[in-house]
Amino acid sequence: MLPIVQRLRRNRRSENIRRLVRETSLRVEDLIWPVFVHDQAEDAAVESMPGVSRLSLDSLLGACETASRLGIPAVAVFPCIDAGLKDAEGSRAFDPGNLLYRAVRAMKERFPDLVVITDVALDPFTSHGHDGLLDGGDVDNDATVSVLCRMAVLEAAAGADFVAPSDMMDGRVGAIRRALDEAGFQRTGILSYAAKYCSAYYGPFRDAVGSKIGKDAISKASYQMDSANVREAMREVELDLAEGADIVMVKPAGPYLDVIRAVRERFDAPLAAYQVSGEYAQIHAAARLGWLDYERVRDESLLAIKRAGADMILTYFAPEVAAGL
Ligand code: PBG
Repeated sequence: MLPIVQRLRRNRRSENIRRLVRETSLRVEDLIWPVFVHDQAEDAAVESMPGVSRLSLDSLLGACETASRLGIPAVAVFPCIDAGLKDAEGSRAFDPGNLLYRAVRAMKERFPDLVVITDVALDPFTSHGHDGLLDGGDVDNDATVSVLCRMAVLEAAAGADFVAPSDMMDGRVGAIRRALDEAGFQRTGILSYAAKYCSAYYGPFRDAVGSKIGKDAISKASYQMDSANVREAMREVELDLAEGADIVMVKPAGPYLDVIRAVRERFDAPLAAYQVSGEYAQIHAAARLGWLDYERVRDESLLAIKRAGADMILTYFAPEVAAGL
């Protein structure tokens, strides 16, 4: 047998050697914690997301306290609006006194250093669960963009550090940038859901915010991206950056690592990835069945997203992972 000169196993021989040659690591500063808030005095568990609850305003502030203590730099807050307050136009989104803006004001008042991120999309507020205004069966792009601009300005006025358009309308980043600037919010950033796929992994999130019709998932295929496409994601990212996005995002994360990698290689902008509700739920489900090692799979799932090229990760695991780092 020829001598084996290159023995890669030498660098795997002990934990300390492995630590020395490790190429990627997850850091607490990579984490963004998505949280749900509702207008009730008690927290309510989200059944399909073990460990996640719709929080009362008080508990939300408690979560911010936890995030600050653990060194998590940012929280993304999602409102769960009472079904009785929803309508086809999502009118509540334009009420400066609504739950979302109250929550953001309270968060920034108590935790001025914590980065607060808010979604720009109508789905928490619409009775049909779509992200925009319906015209016949379809979401009307331009009408939606103009109302999203109002929503973004209200979020900025409440104190959001980044507004995060998650609606996938064409031209919305540029329009929101202009609207923010005209309203004097030059310092409010845009974290754009640039490559957001039409994914079945959002199911548990839609349970949490109640954006299903009965038990059925609605189809957002006419605005969210087709799962089969990666070149199209490059066009989405390019446009959002040209329109003024400060950070771009790929979503979901784990099943789209190739997209994260492709964006990383082609663009120099900060890149976020969203490990969505279904990715979280499936790890919990398998662990409950005793089929997977919960902590190891959790950590591996996040490391893979980092390795693919994400600079930051939205993940419901954020506080427990941060506590372990
Ligand atoms: C709303 C929005 C969704 C998510 C974030 N913002 C759901 C959707 O588009 O239907 C999903 C997040 C998750 O699944 O964790 N536009």
